[in-house]
Amino acid sequence: MNQTLPTTRHELGLLYRARPAMAGLLLAGTAAQRWPAKGSPVRKVPGIGWVTADPVVARAVLQDHRSFTILGEGGVGNLWAQILGDWVLDLFDGAGHHDLRTRTRELFTEAVSRDLVHTAWGERVAAAGEVLRSGGTLDVAHLSRVLVGRMVIGLLGIPRPAGHGGAWPDDEGALRIFETGERLATVALGTAGSTILTPDQVATARGIVAELTAGVPDGWRDAPSDTLLGRCRELGLGLTETSGLACLLMVAGTETAASAMGRTTALLVDTGEQHRMLAAIRASTTTGAAGPSPEASGGGMRTARLLNPGEADPVENVVREGLRVTSPASVIGRGVAADVEVGGARLRAGERIMLLVWSANAAAGPFRADRPYVRESRQLWFGAGRHLCLGAALARAEIGTLLRMLWSEDRPLRVVRRRAARGVLIPAWSELVVSRP
Ligand code: HEM
Repeated sequence: MNQTLPTTRHELGLLYRARPAMAGLLLAGTAAQRWPAKGSPVRKVPGIGWVTADPVVARAVLQDHRSFTILGEGGVGNLWAQILGDWVLDLFDGAGHHDLRTRTRELFTEAVSRDLVHTAWGERVAAAGEVLRSGGTLDVAHLSRVLVGRMVIGLLGIPRPAGHGGAWPDDEGALRIFETGERLATVALGTAGSTILTPDQVATARGIVAELTAGVPDGWRDAPSDTLLGRCRELGLGLTETSGLACLLMVAGTETAASAMGRTTALLVDTGEQHRMLAAIRASTTTGAAGPSPEASGGGMRTARLLNPGEADPVENVVREGLRVTSPASVIGRGVAADVEVGGARLRAGERIMLLVWSANAAAGPFRADRPYVRESRQLWFGAGRHLCLGAALARAEIGTLLRMLWSEDRPLRVVRRRAARGVLIPAWSELVVSRP
């Protein structure tokens, strides 16, 4: 890799294909972090508002709930309130949000997440592993969308469509759900300059939400307590809150996870770091340091061993590093709720700030399978403060499960064919075909 570039050429091409203007902004942000100029790391960009790529400033903004809000112009809460109604405002911030987060703390623990992945994906991941083992090619981008779609169907109890015969969920149904979530996220695409939606955008988004949450009322009433909807009910969440949460999960956890899965796979191959990871897996297996993971065989065995992120397990380390380098939620927006000074800049109530999370994370250096935890960025790819990603453990379990299947044999992969998605909110491979040479 050219050392003056913050990441691989393939990743840069991917960002560019997703949104050229955003790619330019992200790269400028990384450059500003790596070669800081004099003055504040918080800058005003015409047409966008305040912008920063400084991880410390970004975290300070995310943790300062008095001066910054997710609800005001510039934050995603503002989008949701227009789509779902003003009741969302309480769910997204303040006392209602605090209550929701307290009740949902147990929804995606490390252990629950592993179980969810095993149940929703076990057989499908094993089948994909078999394709590779028998010398076939695998489109990891397609597989990621299918898997994430299956997870959503499982989580939200999305019922079998009328007239659908055969097993449910199937790949086709899973893809359809994924694409529906994608359409909803696309509504947010045009909001880099303003989060105010047009009446047409609101109508489209409401239609999609109705489609996605059609199964929630039944699930919330009847689903067993070992399902997400059943757990929501037992945690005391009402139907309205549960539906709101379902929408959130759908939008927050589909494209982001699929993006990280495909891109981390490509990064491992493109940088040659797959060899370092395989060597580390070999070493940990012989010394028994971390122990191979349950899903290593494609979803068969289970284990009670739970690893914290960043532990010695080589795959867990790669999952974290892949999240750092890809940072699928490339930017996080906030509205300024009260005049405040941050990073030496004076921001006024009513303005907005964009945190260039990708830039902040990428500035620490190129992808390395064994890179230790980076203190400055911590896990900024999942945000920080009270809106820190609720599904972080689930996302990590999903990415880890895919990687363990792909590298379950001690053999490198190669990319046979690839294509980046064009004009999307979350940069991703739309096709990434791999094989074991
Ligand atoms: C690689 C995958 C993922 C990434 C990079 C990611 C990133 C993020 C980020 C940056 C935020 C904070 C947004 C903000 O502060 O404005 C967030 C919030 C959230 N994420 Fe994730 N996410 C991922 C996967 C998931 C998954 C799998 C789920 C659940 C199934 C999920 C559920 C949520 C929810 C519910 C929130 C809102 C939390 C709140 O406002 O209190 N995410 N995510």
